[in-house]
Amino acid sequence: MDMMLAGKTALVTGSGSGIGQTIACAFAREGAAVVVNDITEERVAGTIALIGQAGGRAMPAICDIGSLDAVNAAVASLADQGLSPDILVNNAAVLLASAPFLETRPEDCEREIRVILHGTLNCMRAVLPGMIGRRWGKVVNIVSDAARGGQEREANYSAAKGGVLAFTKSMAREVGRHNINVNAVSPAATDTPLRQALLRKMAERIGEQAVQEREEKTRRAYPLKRIGTPEDVSNAVLFLASDAARHITGQVLSVNGGYTMIG
Ligand SMILES: NC(=O)c1ccc[n+]([C@@H]2O[C@H](COP(=O)([O-])OP(=O)(O)OC[C@H]3O[C@@H](n4cnc5c(N)ncnc54)[C@H](O)[C@@H]3O)[C@@H](O)[C@H]2O)c1
Repeated sequence: MDMMLAGKTALVTGSGSGIGQTIACAFAREGAAVVVNDITEERVAGTIALIGQAGGRAMPAICDIGSLDAVNAAVASLADQGLSPDILVNNAAVLLASAPFLETRPEDCEREIRVILHGTLNCMRAVLPGMIGRRWGKVVNIVSDAARGGQEREANYSAAKGGVLAFTKSMAREVGRHNINVNAVSPAATDTPLRQALLRKMAERIGEQAVQEREEKTRRAYPLKRIGTPEDVSNAVLFLASDAARHITGQVLSVNGGYTMIG
């Protein structure tokens, strides 16, 4: 299906790695100009190189989305280049503490909420006026089934993602009149650097073999019997960012192999 994204500009936060990188490459393949955001120059350059090698168009926006000033400066710099995002994918996240809530450090909790929740709000604040002005906009927020169903040892992260879920629905109600769709994609276990880091930490705690056994158990618990890939997520994002999904807003689409089925 042609997603009709040629000529559009898509800003993907945290697209220097994992799911965000795959989403950025997918938009570029569809002919969109992609703004690659991440916190380090190296990560951003890596994704821009991938898109360039495939013949796509990408430009950098290196900033910490947890800072509204930094996000505003990045969006202003895009405007200087004649670009304003038509599509915003709020993907960047950190998961700093996988531990029982009382064992987590308040400063890690604060950082998770700042990046995940405030980062999403900051980017929305910066790009929404342009979308309203053009009467066209698509926002896709990457949440997590940890927020939909709850997840032990990830309470802070889940709380931040739950905030993004509520924000998605509230904003969908607020900006629908401007022809702007706001939806969420909710992955479950997806094979990325973030998940690999979690598994390594777990291995330090319980040993490599126990991790492998848990992985096998996880796979068996999924009706589709596999762990997700970044492409599984990017396919859903592409759809929601296109006019093929123009009558869908305020919805949460789980891409989770059927692990949870929340009505
Ligand atoms: N991988 C999974 O199993 C899984 C499951 C559910 C949800 N998710 C969600 O999918 C999204 C992508 O996760 P991933 O697994 O690809 O993670 P990842 O760690 O591979 O990528 C996240 C990227 O965000 C960037 N980032 C972090 N803080 C930032 C900031 N302040 N400003 C800008 N960029 C920043 C990181 O540098 C990194 O490149 C996240 O929202 C995550 O919560 C992932």
